[in-house]
Amino acid sequence: MRDFNENNATEGVLKSFESIQNERIKQLMGSIVKHMHEVVKETEPTFEEWLKAIEFLTKTGQKCDDRRQEFILFSDVMGVSMLIDTINNRKHHNETESTVLGPFHAPAPEIELGDNIANNVKGEKCIVKGRVKDVKGNNLPDVSVDVWQSGPDGLYDVQKENNVVDLRGRMKTDENGNYFFKTVKPQFYPVPTDGPVGEILNFLGRHPFRPAHIHFMVKAKGFVDLTTHVFIDGDPYLDSDTVFAVKESLIRTLCESKDPDDGSPCKELTFNIILEEEN
Ligand code: BEZ
Ligand code: FE
Repeated sequence: MRDFNENNATEGVLKSFESIQNERIKQLMGSIVKHMHEVVKETEPTFEEWLKAIEFLTKTGQKCDDRRQEFILFSDVMGVSMLIDTINNRKHHNETESTVLGPFHAPAPEIELGDNIANNVKGEKCIVKGRVKDVKGNNLPDVSVDVWQSGPDGLYDVQKENNVVDLRGRMKTDENGNYFFKTVKPQFYPVPTDGPVGEILNFLGRHPFRPAHIHFMVKAKGFVDLTTHVFIDGDPYLDSDTVFAVKESLIRTLCESKDPDDGSPCKELTFNIILEEEN
């Protein structure tokens, strides 16, 4: 192409994609270029502003390693992760809604129903239980229920240096579709703010907090995998989750209860789960 100008710029770049064999890549790249050009034409950035954006992306990449994915965090706080999750998990029946996976999922120890997953933290004791069903209301036995959460200090085990696995477990539902485990009450917490995403949140005047939640990854043969959270009613950040992951249908009330083993007072959270059949 010669004489690249404001009017023929987009067409010129799209033309350079003509020989791309893979139609999906052609579509994705074409759309990305069209939208990037639109942004530039609409906002007319200065060279200084363009360099600031490049510096931000560079620092974001430099912050990534085996344990940290700053680009996903950027996608999370911009609502992109949730948009992709929502598009890929459109609801067809009354199945439980999905929400973002987040960066803290890790292999969990297998546990028995009723086991305590909070072994290295102190906090308010809490029982979490529920039943897994299909959309017609049939109980689903032998379903894999993988759970993980942060501790009362707002940290996941993988964020600590001690390499101790805690506050995560994988169990199977019983013959009636029930699951049950003990833990500590989850607490709201900030997403990692010691990197460029923290800086940009601060710059934009946004807080970094996520409302208290427990993550669930539920898998059963013949059913669509479900990745979701249960949120605690009354949390101050339910309406301003920094990753936009709260859905009304996933909020539950934390009730007063008693530990079935020793009768001591504790909190209790019930979260029933409905899985959609694979087609
Ligand atoms: C989380 O819930 O673990 C999470 C999700 C998105 C960004 C950071 C943390
Ligand atoms: Fe989380």
